[in-house]
Amino acid sequence: MDHAKKPRILSGIKPTGELTLGSYIGAIKNWVKLYDDYECFYMLADLHAITVRHDPSVLRKRTLEQLAQYIACGLDPEKNVLFIQSRVPAHAELAWVLSCYTMMGELNRMTQFKDKASKQSDNINAGLYTYPVLMAADILIYQADLVPVGDDQKQHVEICRDIAGRFNGIYGDVFTIPEPYIPEVGARIMSLDDPESKMSKSEESGGSVLLMDTPEIIMSKFKRAVTDSEASVRYDAENKKGISNLMTVYSVCTGKSFIEIENEFEGKGYGIFKKAVGEAVVETLCPIREEALRLLKDKAYLDEIIAKGTERASYIAGRTLSKVYKKVGFYRA
Ligand code: TYM
Repeated sequence: MDHAKKPRILSGIKPTGELTLGSYIGAIKNWVKLYDDYECFYMLADLHAITVRHDPSVLRKRTLEQLAQYIACGLDPEKNVLFIQSRVPAHAELAWVLSCYTMMGELNRMTQFKDKASKQSDNINAGLYTYPVLMAADILIYQADLVPVGDDQKQHVEICRDIAGRFNGIYGDVFTIPEPYIPEVGARIMSLDDPESKMSKSEESGGSVLLMDTPEIIMSKFKRAVTDSEASVRYDAENKKGISNLMTVYSVCTGKSFIEIENEFEGKGYGIFKKAVGEAVVETLCPIREEALRLLKDKAYLDEIIAKGTERASYIAGRTLSKVYKKVGFYRA
């Protein structure tokens, strides 16, 4: 890999559930396009995954599956640094330092914390609360210039910028201040059975399309997708949330604009449209599923990628951590 001075990217996904069409469209699909112009670091955010109660054996299995899925989505391990967050201890070490430069008032404002806390009232742990500090450490430790994420992570990138700015204000230019990179179309894919809520990994119902769903399951999920009673395929994100969401998915999968889609389905019923969206998604996801299943049979290859990714990530992360420790005054002989 050419490590010439390109601007840097860092992003990641928690292996808390099966990857969804939402995480593919909002995040991974965009990551794949960036390696020509950036040095790209993509992690499996396992430290973040334990803020919810989980089954250790499932987490272990999902982490490897998610790596296979990253590669199957087109992230070439020769051109991108793919790694597991917990294998690079500097993330957690920097998070502690940054927590001393993060205000509780800032964390209190995080909408994702409020949302998650309301959903798991029996387990509002401190990790859930300080989650944005660890995420800031993930980004700042690589001196990332750009953070490609979906809409729901924007507030976390903003707090990261604030923490970095505060630290730099005290100690000089230690951290690069990162910019969020949020796609214009597809930054928030909604659940198929409730277009008011985000498609999420934790959803049990048929509203989430999974990267590893079979074609039959994908088609049946789109067939049941919630629409409206108007029977016209027209983009209106305010009043026609279900149809607009399906149009977004279709647009991303086919490259067609909303106008082209409206013309294509003029006078046709929702049944025909939903079938076409399902087919476009099957065409996009099927090769990914097959490639991921193939890769998962070669554990030695995946382990080799993890080892290489850990080495490269640790090198860059270690350099930033040394700089930070020096700045804050930790004694070194
Ligand atoms: P996570 O694991 O919830 O989601 C991973 C990525 O997928 C995007 N995404 C979506 N985009 C559009 N529509 C959806 N329905 C949808 N669902 C998920 C998310 O915006 C995200 O980009 N905190 C992060 C993981 C993380 C991270 C980081 C990201 C940890 N450290 C550092 C960037 C930089 C998270 O929980 O993402």
